[in-house]
Amino acid sequence: MLRTALTDLLSLRAPIVGAPMAGVSGADLAVAVSAGGGLGMLGFASTASGDAVRTEASRARSGGHHFGIGLMAWALADHPDQFDAAIESGPALVSVSFGDASPWVERLRDAGVPAATQVADVREAKAAADCGVSVLVARGAEGGGHGRDAVGTLPLLQGVLDAVDVPVLAAGGIATARGLAAVLAAGAAGAWIGTALLACREAATPPAARARVLAADETDTVVTRVFDVAQGIPWPPAYGGRALGNAFVRRWHGREELLAADEDAAAELGAARDRGDYEVAYVYAGQAVGLVDRERPASAVVAELAAGAEDLLRQWCG
Ligand SMILES: Cc1cc2nc3c(=O)[nH]c(=O)nc-3n(C[C@H](O)[C@H](O)[C@H](O)COP(=O)(O)O)c2cc1C
Repeated sequence: MLRTALTDLLSLRAPIVGAPMAGVSGADLAVAVSAGGGLGMLGFASTASGDAVRTEASRARSGGHHFGIGLMAWALADHPDQFDAAIESGPALVSVSFGDASPWVERLRDAGVPAATQVADVREAKAAADCGVSVLVARGAEGGGHGRDAVGTLPLLQGVLDAVDVPVLAAGGIATARGLAAVLAAGAAGAWIGTALLACREAATPPAARARVLAADETDTVVTRVFDVAQGIPWPPAYGGRALGNAFVRRWHGREELLAADEDAAAELGAARDRGDYEVAYVYAGQAVGLVDRERPASAVVAELAAGAEDLLRQWCG
């Protein structure tokens, strides 16, 4: 069994956290990741209510495993009830990412709940370590979903590991045993994986989006704000979302100001989501999507990543 600062902190059998993914990682996926030996995280949309957090957390708890909850710092200012509900739910870990996490990290520490945050450069990592996070997630630009399109996972991880003393997880582009072994060999305490889980049976990924994930290559993603702009979701502009490219991206990327005023485009996107047309609607995914070619149980993905990485590390070390 691979033992790291992460597995010790959270009593895990595998040094893997299933990333919080709004719209994808509900209780079913979180429970399955934890059943595989990692820690499954629940993800929530920026506008989720406190009750939605409570309901999903209670479903996860009834799965009989520990779970974590992932929230967005920029959204908590208007929805502090998400945070209160998260703390009440007895999670093993709470992540607050994308914005100033420090006031929330302080409250998590007061409540005795381990805190994590995703960082995109070394300066952010030092600030997060200073404010007392239990786990830092070095999230490289190749990762799926939202984040800063700043530095790739490997240069980021090396810089962060040298700069801080807290356990560091690597995120962005890790979807095979080779990837997990590589970041562990570099000194990471584990991996925080999102895209690798998108086609798992337990993910809430709709069938047509799942088919796109399975068919996509590593070159098929793009970082864009067009889906947020069209939906009027007030993500701070520094955070784009890495998604599969499609006709909507080709039409609007680079024309965000026009898009913001175009009600027809917003309606078109909403209708496409309803009917599952992903040439218009979005599928957030990272570059590791090219490595995802089968629909599998999440517990198997997690267990095989960990066992495979252990074998590789043993081979490399002789
Ligand atoms: C579909 C999708 C939704 C995501 N939603 C969230 C979210 O709600 N909260 C969050 O902190 N991160 C979210 N992320 C980002 C992940 O936490 C993580 O940074 C990313 O998945 C790591 O890179 P990888 O996809 O290459 O594994 C999301 C990622 C994806 C692919």
